[in-house]
Parts: sequence; C-alpha cells; structure tokens
Amino acid sequence: MTYQLNNKKILVTGGAGFVGSNLVRALIKQHNAKVTVLDDLFTGHLKHLDGLDYEFVQGTVEDVNLVEKLVSEHQVVFHMAARNIIVSNKNPREDLNVNVVGSFNVFAAALKYGIERIVYTSTSSIYGNPQTLPIAEDDRKSFLSFYSASKFSAEVYAKAFHEVHGLPVSIVRYSNVYGYNQSPSNPYCGVIGKFIDAAFKNEDIRIHGDGEQTRDFTFVTDAVDATISAAIYDKAIGNEYNIGTGVEISVNKLAELIIQITGSKSSIVHIDKRDIDNIRRRVVNIEKTRHDLKYQPLVTLKNGLTETISWQQKHYTMSS
Ligand SMILES: NC(=O)c1ccc[n+]([C@@H]2O[C@H](COP(=O)([O-])OP(=O)(O)OC[C@H]3O[C@@H](n4cnc5c(N)ncnc54)[C@H](O)[C@@H]3O)[C@@H](O)[C@H]2O)c1
Repeated sequence: MTYQLNNKKILVTGGAGFVGSNLVRALIKQHNAKVTVLDDLFTGHLKHLDGLDYEFVQGTVEDVNLVEKLVSEHQVVFHMAARNIIVSNKNPREDLNVNVVGSFNVFAAALKYGIERIVYTSTSSIYGNPQTLPIAEDDRKSFLSFYSASKFSAEVYAKAFHEVHGLPVSIVRYSNVYGYNQSPSNPYCGVIGKFIDAAFKNEDIRIHGDGEQTRDFTFVTDAVDATISAAIYDKAIGNEYNIGTGVEISVNKLAELIIQITGSKSSIVHIDKRDIDNIRRRVVNIEKTRHDLKYQPLVTLKNGLTETISWQQKHYTMSS
C-alpha cells in the first residue's frame, strides 16, 4: 500500500538548506504539494527556493509554540532542520538543543496533531568506523562525534514515538549527499563543493589526512527520491533506511575525478586531519531500501560530478 503526497499540505523543516530545498522543489513540481518551509536560515538560503510557490516561516524548531502551530496546519512533515557536524562538535549544547530537543518538538507536535506521515533525515555517521562493509541498518552504532550522538538520539525518540504511540514516522540515513544547492561558500559545505571550487581556481585541492579514507557519495536527486518514497510506502513506517549508492570511493580518487572532469591544473595536497576526520571507510548496504522503497540510485558519481560542476560554474563566481 502507498500513501499519496499529491496536493497535500507539507511542512519541511530545514527546507531552505541544501537537501531540503531540492526536496521542496520535487514536492511542488512532482507532487503539486502545498509546501511550508520552517527554517532559521542558519545555513539555509531563500535563493535555493527561487521560482517556487511556497510559504516561508523564519524560526527555529526549538520554539515549541511555533512548531505546534505549523504542524497543526499540515498533513505531512519532512524534518530536516539540523545543526551540522562542525557546529555540533564546537558547541555540543547547541547541537543538543536543535538536533535532539528540536526533533522531539517536531515528533511530539506530529503526534498531537495527527500528522499522516513524517520522515526524519538521519545520517550514516551513526555507524562510526564499521566492523563490516557495506554497512547494514542493524549494524553496530558508534558515536565518534556529538553530531552522530544527537542525530541518533533523535532517531531513538522517533522510534519511541512510533512504538509507544504509533507515530507514522520513517527514518532515512543519508551518506554524503552532493549536488545542486550545496553552496561552496558555506563553510560547512561538503568536500565535493570545496574541491570543485579549488579546481575552478586551479588552486591546490587540500585533503585532510592521507586521502585513502572512503565514502559513499549520493547525488541529491537520488537522496530526494528515497526521502519521498519513505513517506509514500506504508512499509517504511517505523523503519530506518540507508540512502547511498553502495559504491565506495577514496577521497584521493574523488579529487582526481574532479580534476579530470574540470580539466583543472590543481594539484592534490595532503594536510592535517581535523577532529571530525575519524571515520576511515564508509559504504552502505542499500538492499533493504531497494526492497522496501523500490529505491534505485540513478546517478553515477561521474555523471553527478559533471552535473554538480556545471551547476557550480553557473551559480558561483568564486572562481573569478
Ligand atoms: N548533506 C549530507 O551529506 C547529509 C548527510 C547525512 C545527513 N544529513 C541530514 O540531512 C538534513 C539536511 O542536511 P543538509 O546537508 O541539507 O544541511 P543544510 O545545513 O544545508 O540544511 C539544514 C537546514 O536546517 C536549517 N536549520 C538549522 N537549524 C535550524 C533550526 N534550529 N530551526 C530551523 N531550521 C534550522 C538550516 O538553516 C538549513 O537550511 C540534516 O538533518 C542533516 O543532518 C545530510
């Protein structure tokens, strides 16, 4: 059985952010949904939503009254608002307040007002350094950052709301998403945006550590499709899903690919690791997602990088 999002009133927290804005676009364009975005614009930008017909409310998920009011006016919620890993490690209390208490506020309001579907966006950081690869959803969790602790705490609350009160919540765990609207001028931007920017400028591509650390990079349209499916498929309720590609690539290889596609004269240099660079290998098992959500990542890394490079060239003049 499936649930239809068409013409539904949908609240997207964090909808002005990177993944959130791509989701809002898909909900409006593909599902004709009536979308409200709640965002405090901490890292989000309204320019990501240019040309779309939506409502915007500037505010924080920490504000219980605001969250309750907004949730009560909608049928579906995608909860994506979060402080990122760098902020989380610098200021764990801020991370706790937004990522855990803010999420609790959203889940509690969703229960109180009988939301029909709610999706929470978590992260594959919760697996730490995995014992086996590719990582399956039930594998050991390990918390090598405050961010992973807060994101998983919110998952646990989501599950409790589901198990105790039947909240129709699903959880998606993203693995390194990249693509449109990942602004390279954002200091918290992922590695791909930064490497592309350096490549445009023919500057050194600076890799923290030896570059042999691996990741599973997911193009944003694939992540968005899976997130929407998590709201649509009944089977997803009360469940959690890895969202990735199942393809492992080292950061050195990623940098080489970016140099090759851009035709840049950049060199790769290795610099000191940061405290957040403590996960050696990551690639996720997507079999459960394929099975339950009919998920199929459609964009290869090479095609996704080519798309991201042309998007970044068009939207950012940082290279000039
Ligand atoms: N991008 C990735 O690779 C990735 C990987 C794993 C998980 N995630 C998760 O996906 C979600 C979206 O991440 P993103 O990459 O788009 O990051 P982002 O920083 O671009 O988006 C987060 C959005 O939430 C907003 N926000 C932050 N605190 C808020 C608050 N207190 N109240 C309201 N809005 C607030 C920000 O302004 C921003 O628009 C997050 O929950 C993140 O933890 C992302």
